[in-house]
Amino acid sequence: MITRFSTLILALFLLTISAYSQKSNSFNVKKQLEYCAVQASKTLKVTPDDGTSPRTVPNGSKEWKFVGYKDWTSGFWPGELWYLYEATGDKKWEKEADKFSRFLTPLSVSKAGDHDLGFQVFNSFGNGYRLTKNKEYKDIILKTADTLATLFNPKVGTIQSWPHNKMGGHNTIIDNMMNLELLFWASKNGGNKKLYDIAVKHAETTMANHFRPDYSAYHVIIYDYETGKKIKGRTAQGYSDDSMWARGQAWAIYGFTMVYRETKDPKFLDFAHKVTRVYLDRLTTEDLIPYWDFNAAGIPNEPRDASAAAIVSSALIELSSYTKDKNLKNEYLTKSKKMIVSLSDHYQSHDVNSAFLLHSTGHKPAGSEIDCSINYADYYYLEALLRLQKLK
Ligand code: GLY
Repeated sequence: MITRFSTLILALFLLTISAYSQKSNSFNVKKQLEYCAVQASKTLKVTPDDGTSPRTVPNGSKEWKFVGYKDWTSGFWPGELWYLYEATGDKKWEKEADKFSRFLTPLSVSKAGDHDLGFQVFNSFGNGYRLTKNKEYKDIILKTADTLATLFNPKVGTIQSWPHNKMGGHNTIIDNMMNLELLFWASKNGGNKKLYDIAVKHAETTMANHFRPDYSAYHVIIYDYETGKKIKGRTAQGYSDDSMWARGQAWAIYGFTMVYRETKDPKFLDFAHKVTRVYLDRLTTEDLIPYWDFNAAGIPNEPRDASAAAIVSSALIELSSYTKDKNLKNEYLTKSKKMIVSLSDHYQSHDVNSAFLLHSTGHKPAGSEIDCSINYADYYYLEALLRLQKLK
């Protein structure tokens, strides 16, 4: 009797284990990549051949809003096309990626409008060069890095993010961390070596001034042009000057992880862990997709920001690879996968529109791009899927 009972318990135990492992293994990255390719094919069909690219689909609409090459998001669509080429090896994607990247060429020879040149040119031509080694792309990237460096103010030690919108001094936004990758790459691939020093200085100055004691980021820091001293921290796209804007913190997590990759300086790794800790500890949503701002007054009735989750899920995979502490590494990977599964299971657009994801928030205080589809959410989601696939 006891033997039969034990056998029954053992069988039940094995069944449970098997069901659990089937569930945890059931996430199929390849299927999600195929979904992205299907959606992008639909978007290609409706994209005009006039140098614009798809940026956003407003909530309740099926129609993309298209933007010209000067828009800060113009590099994400060609970047997605390069990632699809990487995922599939299909030349169709290479052809389209090349076409949409080339629309951005004027950015490499125009006066710098703002810090977004990295988002624009490195996500497009940078991915293109990584995959094809096309010399023309390299020239464009190197020229653009020099252009971006013209916004560096040595008295402050950072790049001015928005020269057109002074806000009472030299402004630097946390998003600007992302664009340092362009400078690092150029300094190591035939460009001016000073670009490396500029990128490191920007990261160090940001580390010293851009964060509150709990390591949550301000969106914008205003510095005095002449003395270089910090005047104040404030927001532009967040809920308030003192709130933790979800995408801003996501840029910090991704940005400092990337700066550690490029410098191998442990102070940046330590900092990447700290800015990640506050994000993960304050993430209260069951599905790990944040509200657009962690302090937004109307939580739990505030819109989410899938783009922040996509950025963080991708960054966590990279940060986990630099993490020796087994528990921490496991936490980063488990949470990253949960974010990617949540996005895949509950945030995909399917027939609502032809973006990959729904439920991102661009600029809530301005009443713009609230709970909608946005190309940078799609770009980092696709990047996270590719990084996850490489892990497996
Ligand atoms: N870089 C602008 C934004 O994250 O909305």
